[in-house]
Amino acid sequence: MKTLILIGAKGMIGQAALSGLGNHKVITASRSGRDCDHAVDITDEASIRKLFEQVEEFDAVVNAVGECEYAPVCEMTEQQWMSSIASKMMGQINLVRIGAEYIADGGSFTLISGILNQKPIPLGVADAVTSGAIDTFVKCAGLEMPRGIRVNAVNPTVLEESWEAYGELMPGFEPVPGRLVGKAFERAVDGFLNGEVIYVDA
Ligand SMILES: NC(=O)c1ccc[n+]([C@@H]2O[C@H](COP(=O)([O-])OP(=O)(O)OC[C@H]3O[C@@H](n4cnc5c(N)ncnc54)[C@H](OP(=O)(O)O)[C@@H]3O)[C@@H](O)[C@H]2O)c1
Repeated sequence: MKTLILIGAKGMIGQAALSGLGNHKVITASRSGRDCDHAVDITDEASIRKLFEQVEEFDAVVNAVGECEYAPVCEMTEQQWMSSIASKMMGQINLVRIGAEYIADGGSFTLISGILNQKPIPLGVADAVTSGAIDTFVKCAGLEMPRGIRVNAVNPTVLEESWEAYGELMPGFEPVPGRLVGKAFERAVDGFLNGEVIYVDA
């Protein structure tokens, strides 16, 4: 059994991830901290550091957070770009950058990207670009991490559980059950993959 920190635990992807992590001691966190063990804001370095200092000993970090603005590409403001980058890109990179100081030898980080960098949709450019950045980050960072630490990303298509919210934006997409996405997180945490993007598509 590993001790792992699941950030965004109460969200749709967080719940999907949780379904694959049942063999472990899971410490939950989210921005509000509602119904979680800890509150953390992944866009704030001090908040990230505080979380890792409070938990003290852990073998894995699973992140299911990355907020993006949705707008037509020519209407996206710089502020909308920067807030998407601060959350989905730098927030996740900072989890690895800072977390590497605290995580156990042989630990793992699992980040979230998303299918839009493979299959773009209108309004989804910020999500697509930051997902592409995360996929590239894990491929590179995984090669460089010290102490046997692994870094991977799960890149899912839309969840069945989220279809009502996003389905209208995604004609021709086939949603997948959260349970399958949970399996991808399980492979990332319990397997030996490193520097990999684990795609979950129908
Ligand atoms: N849902 C899908 O079908 C799907 C498919 C592929 C990829 N993704 C990607 O997965 C990620 C999560 O999506 P979701 O659908 O699971 O979202 P969601 O249901 O809205 O959940 C978001 C979670 O993130 C937390 N959160 C938001 N901002 C935070 C911050 N700055 N620091 C810490 N926690 C924060 C929220 O916590 P509070 O509630 O406490 O604020 C909540 O637990 C997104 O990047 C999305 O693009 C989603």
